[in-house]
Amino acid sequence: MIDLPVTNRRPLAQLVVCQGCCCGRTDRGRPEVPVGRLKDVWKGEKLNRSVQLTVSGCLGPCDLANVALVITPGGNNWFGGLAGDAVYEALIAWARECHHTGRVAPLSAGFDGLRFERFGASEEGEVG
Ligand code: FES
Repeated sequence: MIDLPVTNRRPLAQLVVCQGCCCGRTDRGRPEVPVGRLKDVWKGEKLNRSVQLTVSGCLGPCDLANVALVITPGGNNWFGGLAGDAVYEALIAWARECHHTGRVAPLSAGFDGLRFERFGASEEGEVG
């Protein structure tokens, strides 16, 4: 029997906010990604215990900048076209709710219009 690796760091979810070659590049006419605000909230409220925040390099779908990925045990949720403070504040509110309830909270309905399919059609979802 193989001993599989086990991590002690098991949050409820992970939020990956892209800040790559396009996302957040205000000098290229893209909306700002408020990385400082996000990091301050996550650090100040210890949200990483519940929702891991990752600021990433390019995630790929630059044509939909700004991009964010919400990873939960239920799957990957890709969002594009994030712009303005309100949408990032909604992500903060969502993470706070997850943190305080100890459960993966649903994202607000406003995210439905930002959701996109990242991958091409495939019947097989397993890797390897
Ligand atoms: S820079 Fe964000 S998807 Fe490419």
